[in-house]
Amino acid sequence: MSHHMYQILMISGSLKLGSINTAILKGLTLLADEAMTMRFSLYEGLGELPHFNPDRDTPQAIEAVEHFREQLRSSDGVIICTPEYAAGVPGTLKNALDWIVSSGELMNKPVAAISASPSMQGGAKALESLEATLRMIDARMFSGGVVGIPQMNRNKIGPDGEVADSELRLTLLGILNALKSELEEQQES
Ligand SMILES: Cc1cc2nc3c(=O)[nH]c(=O)nc-3n(C[C@H](O)[C@H](O)[C@H](O)COP(=O)(O)O)c2cc1C
Repeated sequence: MSHHMYQILMISGSLKLGSINTAILKGLTLLADEAMTMRFSLYEGLGELPHFNPDRDTPQAIEAVEHFREQLRSSDGVIICTPEYAAGVPGTLKNALDWIVSSGELMNKPVAAISASPSMQGGAKALESLEATLRMIDARMFSGGVVGIPQMNRNKIGPDGEVADSELRLTLLGILNALKSELEEQQES
């Protein structure tokens, strides 16, 4: 068994204070015990990234963009958890992903994609679109790593990620285990 500490960058697609998707990322952090051998950090610069413009898409041109790319480069894996806005990925998240199309920080990097919604569909349309974008930029997708969470509400998780719902707990543990397996597999290959 490996004792390597995997560095995981978490990205929430919601800028909202008290976001339920951000709470899920915090919940994942709380649920990961030592056996998970993962260290998490939450990327908090999504709202500071400028609008993507190919003319400005150069190495080290913009501080906020370079900071984002650097955080991705120094992580072994990524977990994205996003709301669905108008049947798609929130513009802020798509904007961030557009900044790494040419620079390629997610290339071959394990990425878990989650979308939580109060609806019965669990952000399925956002998830489908997000997965297509991630595949386009050659992120490493894996079994158990693309997960919609339907009927999400505040009774199931506290603002700091305390999970109060047993089904949600199992879902989140499943994502952590799937990511861990993928990281270990990649390390061995
Ligand atoms: C502009 C906007 C558009 C939305 N569109 C959808 C949608 O298409 N599908 C959906 O399931 N929920 C939609 N919702 C509801 C969100 O799923 C809900 O507000 C969720 O709690 C947002 O996640 P957050 O708490 O992490 O910000 C929308 C919410 C907003 C503010």
